[in-house]
Order: sequence, then structure tokens, then C-alpha cells
Amino acid sequence: MSIHFGVDYYPEHWPMARWETDARLMREMGIDLVRMAEFSWQKMESAEGTFDFAWLDRSIEILARAGIRVVLGTPTASPPAWIIQANPEILPLDSRGVRRGFGGRHHDCQSNEAYRVHARRIAQAMARHFASKPSVLGWQIDNELGNSHHDLCHCESCRHAFQAWLRAKYGTIAELNRRWGTVFWSQTYDDFAQVPTPAANAVNAHNPSLHLDWKRFHSDLIIEFHDEQAAIIRREAPGQFITHNLMGFFDLVDYFKLARSLDFVSHDQYPMGFFDRPQPMKDPATLAAHLDLMAGLKGAPFWVMEQQAGPTGWSILGKTPRPGQLALWTAQSIAHGADAVVFFRWRSCTVGTEQYWHGILPHNGLPGRRYEELKACIAQLSPVMDDFRGCLGGSEAALLFSYEQNWALEVQPHHPDLDYLQHTMGFCRAFHERNIPLAFISGSEDLARHRLIIAPLLFLDLPGLAARLTAYVRGGGHLVLTMRTGVKDQDNLCQTEGPLPGPYAELLGIEILDYDCLRDCEERVECEGTVGAARLWWDVIELRGARALARGRGGDHGGEPIITEAEAGSGRAYYIGSELDPALMSRFVDHAAKAAGLASLGPSAEGLELVRRRGAEADYLFALNHRGEGASVALPPAWEAIIGSRDLPPYGFSLFRSERTEPRPRPH
Ligand code: GAL
Ligand code: ZN
Repeated sequence: MSIHFGVDYYPEHWPMARWETDARLMREMGIDLVRMAEFSWQKMESAEGTFDFAWLDRSIEILARAGIRVVLGTPTASPPAWIIQANPEILPLDSRGVRRGFGGRHHDCQSNEAYRVHARRIAQAMARHFASKPSVLGWQIDNELGNSHHDLCHCESCRHAFQAWLRAKYGTIAELNRRWGTVFWSQTYDDFAQVPTPAANAVNAHNPSLHLDWKRFHSDLIIEFHDEQAAIIRREAPGQFITHNLMGFFDLVDYFKLARSLDFVSHDQYPMGFFDRPQPMKDPATLAAHLDLMAGLKGAPFWVMEQQAGPTGWSILGKTPRPGQLALWTAQSIAHGADAVVFFRWRSCTVGTEQYWHGILPHNGLPGRRYEELKACIAQLSPVMDDFRGCLGGSEAALLFSYEQNWALEVQPHHPDLDYLQHTMGFCRAFHERNIPLAFISGSEDLARHRLIIAPLLFLDLPGLAARLTAYVRGGGHLVLTMRTGVKDQDNLCQTEGPLPGPYAELLGIEILDYDCLRDCEERVECEGTVGAARLWWDVIELRGARALARGRGGDHGGEPIITEAEAGSGRAYYIGSELDPALMSRFVDHAAKAAGLASLGPSAEGLELVRRRGAEADYLFALNHRGEGASVALPPAWEAIIGSRDLPPYGFSLFRSERTEPRPRPH
């Protein structure tokens, strides 16, 4: 299957007479694939059991004649009015007890059995109907699962599902009471049926253990909702793949877990952000990190199922991408591991909420600047993509990314500004600036593949992890841990076994005897001659074998160590007891990268990103100029320019190729 570029297409929004023109324009542009139908429930099933796939068949045929293949979405992100009328209990209940209504999308309770019946029926009917269509390659179940569900759902069905999940986890209510510490405030339960969801009607904050389990449950519920449809499709249409359009750093679903039932993951990449929240454009390092997380979920290339194709906006609009930017972002997605890029959307819509979320074509359907820019980009990239299909770029360093740590810190952020993703991005940004690849891992992989692992904010001591990381260091790995490590057990209770950072104290050669939440203040710190600020938190560290790499300068914590380094076995372990500003982070990453012997892909220059992909016989290097002015990149002569050159126009990209003499190190 050689699919490189696609579009998200909604033929039902347009007269049939236009469909041939669409297919022709797509073909002329180099489009191989469309994704369709993920919001078309009512068009496919206008009353219970009354299916009409004829319009979709027709569209698929027209596209097939143009050589364009199809991914179909099951439409469960937008249940039609007749379903809601028949089963109003499907409407979700938010944390304030407000029943949400019909009128947007995602107005569904994912645990509701009546809704599951409807979902199974449409998934089965679609899978059965399209299983034998040769141009239907695969499926996307629902759309951006979890999207809009942050505050949902606290209905009775979800409460019962939560209670059943707890019963399966803890066995007896006595065990739950013990592990949640419900002795506090007389919250001891006699029965699982008494356990509430963490709704907003509690007079004070909920038990943090309950809250963390609720987040785990909620993620599992969404995955179960997905997997139920996946099982139907696997049964009915075994030859077709299943993927899902994930949302980068979105935090409601443990994507490592969701990815298990996917053939490959997909991702939605909108550099200019989302609708009604006017947002600054995401910086290139953040965009890169979203893509790297996607590559990390299965340690494999992925698809972009929605790539920004024009100005975004619902009622408020984002900025119009500058000439070159759409192509640049496309190249960035491919550089970080996308094997195919599907643009959202083919044509700007004249109806509905997303009239200003622009597609490749404007409202009038006439090919214009965006069409020409992306057509040229496709013509350049398509011919080389098969060479590196299936392979990532490889990396010697990794970032251990944990949904559970993020959730626990969302429940108790300590400092109002502490944010797991921002803390993590501090490291990503420093690696990005240095053009040193940083893979995302869950921690369950073979750790020894990496020379350096950064495992930020290991707040919860999750089973087995400390032993694995300790063995990794003793075996020669370099490890970076940060503030609030080892504070809690897996149930979100404070651990009492010895000094902080708990199971890592010995490995790190430190003890934390006290700490200080840096409210409305920062501490000056010196690290190997660089002075910068440490923020949010200060661990008061006693050295027990480690040496100080950085210390406080003046202020409340002058002279105290704040970054430490220790040898352990044949490896090395660092601890950072605060959050570092960019200057300190840079200094630290230079030190740690050098000690671990990490190689950079090429010289750093502001806004110029270098990303590698490996092919069967050659390595490929993308140079991406994220700035509105020209740039040049000094690369060794072995890198032969196959797209562009060493001089890049504003928002331009180039691609270089280098024949490899030694075999590819790893499958990715
Ligand atoms: C995505 C979603 C699409 C579309 C787009 C623009 O999050 O998957 O269906 O809504 O945003 O809002
Ligand atoms: Zn519910």
C-alpha cells in the first residue's frame, strides 16, 4: 500500500454533480486517499436499522476511478437527533450535574448501554457493507476520542461503570478503603455502590486517590468504547486496518494503551491551534514534540489524519498561514515519522460550525494558493517517501512520558503553575534547539537502547519502574529525574519509606530533607558558570555521595545544591530539584548530552530544525526553516540535497540524502 497524501472529505456537504470534479482536482494534486463519513451517521442510518450507503458507494466509486482510496470513520462522535430522541439518557451529565444537549457533537455518554447498542449496530452495518470494497483500506473509529469529554460524564451509568471498575481493581471495599485512606474525614465506604464520581457538587475537594482512579477509569472507558467497535470491524472486515486520530499532548486517554489495538496511530496536527480559544501559534519544538509522542506510542511511523490546510477557526479565526508554511508543516510531520499526511479538509464548508476552518479549496471550490502550494509540496515529497516508509529516524535519548504522572499532578499540582506538559517541554525544547533527537517512551520498552533517559516528575512510584530504571543506570545508562519524584505510591498516598526521593535516593546519592514551594518567587541558580532561574519548587537536597552540578545563589536557598550528579554502577544519575529556566536547562542539557555522548544532527540556528529519517540504504535529513526570513545550513558534503538546497527561503524546507555504509542500526 503506497499512500502518501490524502484529504478529509465530506461529499455529503456538496451536490453529487460536483463529486467528479473533486476527484479530478484531487488526482491532479497528487492525492491518494480520502477519509470520509466520520460524522455522517444520519446520512447512513436515517432511522433505526434503515441504512443507506448508496451515496457513499457512489462517492467511493468516483474516487476509485481516479485512483483514490478510502479510510472510513465510524460516526459515533455525532449521534443523530432520532437516537437522542429515542434514548435521551445518552446525553452526558457534566460535573456540575447539567445534562448536556443536542446541537454540537460528542453529546454522548460512552458507558451508556443504549448508546453502545446504537454504536455496535452502525459499526457492524458499515463494516459488513464495506468489507469487500477493494478501495476501502481501513477504519478510524469515532473521531478524536475523548475530545469534548473532559468534564463528562457523571451520569448514573458512568457512576456504576466506575464502581464496577473499582470492584474489579480492588476486589473488596475494605481493600479500597485501605488503599485510598478513606479513614480521612470519615469517608470509609461500606459498599462500592456508595462511591461517588468526582463531580463538582462535593463541598470540598475529592480524595486524591479517588480522583486519580477516576482519571484512570475514564481513560479505560474511552478505550473500551473504542475497542468494542474495533472488535466488530476486525471480525467483519479482517483485511482492513484500524487507526485513530489522536491529538498530540491531549491528556484524557492513555494513548500508549489506546495504541495497542490500532494497526498504527494517526494524529491531528494543527500548528495554529484550535477554534474559539485564541491561541499563540505552537512553537516548532512543541509541534515536533506532539509528532515525536505519536511516533513513540508504538515506536513506529504514523499517519497524520488531519493536517492543517488553511486558516483555522470556528467563530474566531486564527492567523492565515504564510506562503510556504502549510508545506513546511507537512514536511515537518513527515520528518518526524508520518508515512502519510491527510489534509483537513478538502474544501472549506459553507454550512455548519466549521465554516471558517478552511480547507485546501476555498468556499467557491476553485483551486487557489493553498492548492498550488500543497500540490507542489506533494510533487516534491511523494517520490522519496517510499524510501523511508516504515522507519523512524532513530535516537539515542528518550523521554519517559507518563499519563498517570500527569493525572496525579493535575489532581495536586502543588504550585498553581506546575504543569506536567510544560515541565516536559522544557527538556524537549532544549533537545530540539540542539537538533538532538529525543524519542518518547512509556518506560516498558527495552531501556538499554538509549544512552540517556529523562524521566520527569515521577511523582507516583509505579510498580516495577524504580527497579527497571535502577538496573538501567547500573548497566551503563544515564538517567535524569526531577522534582517531586517518589513522593507517592501508586494509589496516590504519600510514601513513608525513608527519605525522598524514595526508591531513587540511593541511586541518586541524595536525600531530600525539606522542600519549598516557590510561590511568587524564583531562586537564582548557578550551573557551571551559567546563572539562571529555578522556579515553582525547591528541594532542599543533602548530598549523600552525589556532587552538586548547580547551587542556589543568594536568596533563601543560596549555596544549596539543586542539580546533582552521581555515578552508579557503570551509569550516571542526575536529579533536578526544581524547574529550570531555558538558560539553566541549556547548560544542563549540554552537560548531560556530552557525558552521554549524544550526537547532534547538525549545527543549531534559531528557527532551523533538523530532523532525520532512516531508509533502507540511506539516511534522510530534513532542514525546516520556521522563520519568515531566509536561512542557510552548513552540512557536511555527504548530505546531498534532493529537495531544495543549503539555502532555505522563508518558511522553506530542504531534504538531504546520505548513502549509509553501515547497516541500519535498528528497525526504527
Ligand atoms: C478536529 C476534528 C475535526 C474538525 C477540526 C476543526 O479536532 O477532528 O473533525 O472539527 O478539528 O475543528
Ligand atoms: Zn455517562
